[in-house]
Amino acid sequence: MLFPKWLDKLTPIFLWGGIVGLLGVIFVFWYWFSPKSLNVGYQPEQPIPYNHQLHVGQLGLDCRYCHYTVEQAAHAAIPPTEVCMNCHTLVKTNSENIKKVAASYENEEPIDWVKVHNLPDYAYFNHSRHVAAGVGCVECHGRIDQMEIVYQAEPLSMGWCLECHRNPAGSIRPVEFVTDMEWSTEDPVALGHSLIAANNIKARQDCNTCHR
Ligand code: HEC
Ligand code: HEC
Ligand code: HEC
Ligand code: HEC
Ligand code: HEC
Repeated sequence: MLFPKWLDKLTPIFLWGGIVGLLGVIFVFWYWFSPKSLNVGYQPEQPIPYNHQLHVGQLGLDCRYCHYTVEQAAHAAIPPTEVCMNCHTLVKTNSENIKKVAASYENEEPIDWVKVHNLPDYAYFNHSRHVAAGVGCVECHGRIDQMEIVYQAEPLSMGWCLECHRNPAGSIRPVEFVTDMEWSTEDPVALGHSLIAANNIKARQDCNTCHR
């Protein structure tokens, strides 16, 4: 006998210990070394070159003029062509691109905008909760007012979400400034802490917050 009999009984313990340990190591590696920058910079071509830099940066339109569900719903609406036609029935009507916009309106065929940001289905996100808590659009989408073509500015990975959920103070502003791309303050962390206390804000980190 190479091994004493009592050792046989212990083998499953070693085995399970080994498996659990291995899973732990895999999790830690996955968590810390998961590619944080996977989709950063993703900038699909759009069917019509709609320009945020022009419409927001220069004309000064508020995000909610077009993305009007962002305060009430989980998803931010992409505007129907009607919204564009508020202006483009008169503005630049002889431009090729505006002719395409007008055709979409007349034929009642929505423009096929390509989605830029895409969370996997198993991750739950909610705009209204973040906007109501005073997390500005710029924290997650970057300087949209300077983008001629929208691209993904932040990783949107689990590690990125949790980084803010663990310590959101520096990312909370008074709600009236959520769409202001240039808002800043002397001491954002101190202001954030006072808003968190006043409005009872709690960014939860348990798994079923985002996986339900
Ligand atoms: C005049 C209408 C209009 C205004 C104002 C506007 N947007 Fe948009 N936005 C659009 C349209 C149309 C699209 C889809 C085409 C594209 O991606 O460029 C879009 C796309 C986006 C996307 C990408 C959505 C995706 O597919 O993942 C983000 C993020 C976004 N807008 C944020 C903002 C923010 C932030 C503001 C305010 C600073 C703003 N928008 C103002 C019309 C508008
Ligand atoms: C806390 C981060 C965060 C904030 C703040 C935020 N967004 Fe988003 N936004 C996201 C994520 C994540 C997605 C992708 C959602 C998905 O794929 O389900 C997204 C997607 C979008 C889209 C595409 C449509 C959709 O809902 O999937 C638009 C348009 C948009 N955001 C506009 C805005 C505007 C306007 C604001 C500010 C009023 C804003 N976002 C604030 C993280 C944020
Ligand atoms: C508040 C008014 C307003 C709204 C709403 C608006 N636009 Fe515009 N848009 C303008 C103005 C002003 C210009 C600049 C015209 C110029 O260059 O003289 C412009 C320019 C454009 C151009 C460039 C045209 C060219 O060939 O030079 C495109 C494309 C365009 N808009 C698409 C859209 C789309 C798509 C929407 C809806 C999502 C939209 N716009 C909503 C006012 C608006
Ligand atoms: C810049 C900061 C910030 C980022 C980034 C952020 N969050 Fe949040 N999130 C918050 C805050 C603050 C709250 C708490 C809101 C409240 O108290 O009502 C919150 C709340 C939530 C809630 C609501 C939880 C509930 O109680 O129902 C969900 C879901 C959520 N976040 C998902 C996400 C996901 C998914 C991501 C990444 C794609 C993300 N968040 C990124 C700040 C952030
Ligand atoms: C604040 C939101 C949030 C919380 C809390 C959260 N997750 Fe996630 N998780 C995400 C997002 C967003 C993704 C998708 C990231 C991506 O696009 O790769 C994700 C992805 C994952 C994945 C898939 C990983 C992969 O590489 O495909 C697993 C597994 C996971 N989460 C487990 C957990 C567990 C376990 C917990 C609790 C300890 C947890 N999550 C808590 C937001 C969250």
